[in-house]
Amino acid sequence: MAIISSERTAHLVAATPPGAVRIADIGYDHARIALALLTARPDVRVVGVEVQPAAAARVWAALSPTEAALAAGRLELRTGDALAALAPGEVDGVLIAGLTGPTIAEMIVRAPPDVLAGLAFAILCPTRFEASLRPTLAALGWHVAAEALALERGRFYEVITAHPGPSPSGPEHDPIAAAFGPHLVRPPHPRLAAYLADTRARFHAAFAHDLRSYDGSPERAALGSKLALIPALAERLQG
Ligand SMILES: C[S@@+](CC[C@H](N)C(=O)[O-])C[C@H]1O[C@@H](n2cnc3c(N)ncnc32)[C@H](O)[C@@H]1O
Repeated sequence: MAIISSERTAHLVAATPPGAVRIADIGYDHARIALALLTARPDVRVVGVEVQPAAAARVWAALSPTEAALAAGRLELRTGDALAALAPGEVDGVLIAGLTGPTIAEMIVRAPPDVLAGLAFAILCPTRFEASLRPTLAALGWHVAAEALALERGRFYEVITAHPGPSPSGPEHDPIAAAFGPHLVRPPHPRLAAYLADTRARFHAAFAHDLRSYDGSPERAALGSKLALIPALAERLQG
């Protein structure tokens, strides 16, 4: 097995289901995740989608001979807009990392319905603490099947694997688990307490003012509501 130096990337690769053979990397940028996937999974082909027209030429030019051999016939780099660049059924699932939660949520909501209907999974890794992704997935009738917390250069990254359809364990009645992630909360992920402490510190000023500024847009209100649940979750972790 190849060694992947980025913990976030290693978690993304580990989240890909064993049976998946064609995966789209949406917003591939430098294609490091796509290359890690090709290295770790010799059975997988990757379709990279990037909105920057110059990205593909940049990636191909920067490949080492080993990477070029790895990518030959297995990596397709496409210019386009998120999931709209995919044909229905052409990939088993998508991976979207390195964008904010609301941007990822918006990509999923804007996806052509027949493309979305052809997906068996989505692996999502927002750049920071957010409140949009899980509610968006639930509204589309998807459920969170697995979750991980990666820690890289002092930053936590949630890695959310979502599957279409209702959860096999039934509807989520616990608002804290629904907001923070059922698989991060139950049982508590070993890094959850540290992640909450880090989030509290990052939003320190907002907490100092009772989160009063978190109104306005629905996105901001959702973030405020999720932040407001942190003390209850922290108490639950201690109890
Ligand atoms: C910060 S990079 C993340 C790169 C890589 N996925 C990672 O996590 O390391 C985000 C990339 O998404 C691309 N992007 C943003 N909106 C997009 C869209 N609608 N469709 C395709 N790519 C998009 C940007 O051009 C940028 O290269």
